[in-house]
Amino acid sequence: MTSLLELKNVSRSFGGIHAVRDVSLTLEQGKIIGLIGPNGAGKSTLVNVITGVHPPQQGEILFRGQHIEGLKPYQVASKGIARTFQVVQPFPEMTVLENVMAGALFAARKQSLHQAKDSAMAQLEFTGLASYANRPASELTLAFRKKLELAKSLAMEPKLLLLDEVNAGLNSAEVNQALELIRGIAKQGVTIVIIEHLLKVVFTLCDQIAVLHQGQLIANDTPKKIVEDPQVVSAYLGARFAEKHGVVHE
Ligand SMILES: Nc1ncnc2c1ncn2[C@@H]1O[C@H](COP(=O)(O)OP(=O)(O)OP(=O)(O)O)[C@@H](O)[C@H]1O
Ligand SMILES: [Mg+2]
Repeated sequence: MTSLLELKNVSRSFGGIHAVRDVSLTLEQGKIIGLIGPNGAGKSTLVNVITGVHPPQQGEILFRGQHIEGLKPYQVASKGIARTFQVVQPFPEMTVLENVMAGALFAARKQSLHQAKDSAMAQLEFTGLASYANRPASELTLAFRKKLELAKSLAMEPKLLLLDEVNAGLNSAEVNQALELIRGIAKQGVTIVIIEHLLKVVFTLCDQIAVLHQGQLIANDTPKKIVEDPQVVSAYLGARFAEKHGVVHE
């Protein structure tokens, strides 16, 4: 069976900074995959590389067996890959509904404005934003802007959804709500990559965890194996986390 997404030796630099270095990674359909690593490890860059925002300078990216490296962001979206942004920037003067419609139209699978509106309304219902549909996006709190970002990406009807720190800045009740939403999305058969610093979220939600450090993939395994990986512990998780989880290293 063809993998949903396959990265082969993908690299991306900015000047002298090797943000993503020779990353090879395979994602299977129907999984929730965590992408973790320290600040500046290259997580957001990897999402930008996949989605055509910062195309790779080297390597190949195959989505459902088709090459997508070099495609423009709207073309990647129309293939079925949607993403949220780490820094959420809705169009502030547009309504919440219009923002989500923009998402639907960006992926360009909708034939008409009417269809885009129906799809957008369905996602506003799903994310709990329906009552804000006609309010300007600028009025939303951070937690609601994050939901808007989710609704917008879901309106693209993705097969693969890349979530860049959707929980950052949320309180624990809001995080729990977001987790329920993410589980609901996964249940619909959408494969999810979640970039997340909240380890509790990553370790409860994910089937697979990929770890980036200084642009390189240093581990890619089940959560159970990841907490025992000495390289991951030293690069990111730290001794205290390992101790708490019963991992002992020399
Ligand atoms: N557009 C850009 N121009 C120049 N340098 C960039 C650009 N985007 C990312 N970088 C650099 O690439 C490296 C990786 O950044 P990236 O944002 O991918 O890290 P990250 O793992 O998402 O970090 P964080 O957890 O802080 O969000 C950093 O050194 C960053 O400064
Ligand atoms: Mg980032």
